[in-house]
Amino acid sequence: MKRPYRHMPILTFGDYMLRTIKRTDAIDMFDYGKDEEVTKFLSWGPFTDVSEAKHSIKDIFLPRLRQKLPIGYAIVDINKNKMIGTIDFHTKYQNGAEIGYVLHKDYWNKGIMTTALNLIIKIGFEHLNYEKITIKHLKSNIASQKVIEKTLFKKILSEPMIMKKWSGSISDDLYIYELTKETYYGSKQS
Ligand SMILES: CC(C)(COP(=O)(O)OP(=O)(O)OC[C@H]1O[C@@H](n2cnc3c(N)ncnc32)[C@H](O)[C@@H]1OP(=O)(O)O)[C@@H](O)C(=O)NCCC(=O)NCCS
Repeated sequence: MKRPYRHMPILTFGDYMLRTIKRTDAIDMFDYGKDEEVTKFLSWGPFTDVSEAKHSIKDIFLPRLRQKLPIGYAIVDINKNKMIGTIDFHTKYQNGAEIGYVLHKDYWNKGIMTTALNLIIKIGFEHLNYEKITIKHLKSNIASQKVIEKTLFKKILSEPMIMKKWSGSISDDLYIYELTKETYYGSKQS
């Protein structure tokens, strides 16, 4: 398929769905983006006004297509028709991309992000034809570490990092993981 990043499939798992982020998600994005705990380890937030969520969708997610990246998936609670988080390829590398994710606190520890991550890995290799996928987390972000460790990613590097936020800066180690196409397809045969 030509430009597969423009034609991302909708995926469902249980009561949840992954579909492309749209402008009307701003109110729901603000709902979790304003939460200090949710955004503690993220480079952005907490939002103080819904306009920041609107800006994020308009100026960060939607323009991804120009970088040959998919816009990004909204994670949706199907029963409530509510957007409860995102999972996306946010940075393009020569032969792959890096994944990021965030989820509304009400939905933590139900296995949602582990399932979503496994689904987007499949999309990365089988739909977007990436050679390698990268993911990173700060050492203190134990929940994110647990999610990543439940998938096929292998830790390749740890480096010191200072994350600057308007509320102050976090000094921590950044853990970097990779998953290659060979490992991914190899795991399907065993
Ligand atoms: C990281 C995040 C996406 C995880 O989503 P989730 O749907 O709750 O993840 P899962 O339920 O699939 O798995 C979480 C795992 O972490 C474990 N966990 C969560 N908090 C923990 C803690 N403080 N200490 C130890 N384990 C913890 C859970 O028990 C679970 O492991 P288990 O399945 O072995 O029991 C969610 O916490 C989040 O949105 N955090 C804020 C945004 C963020 O940090 N994004 C990642 C940036 S790198």
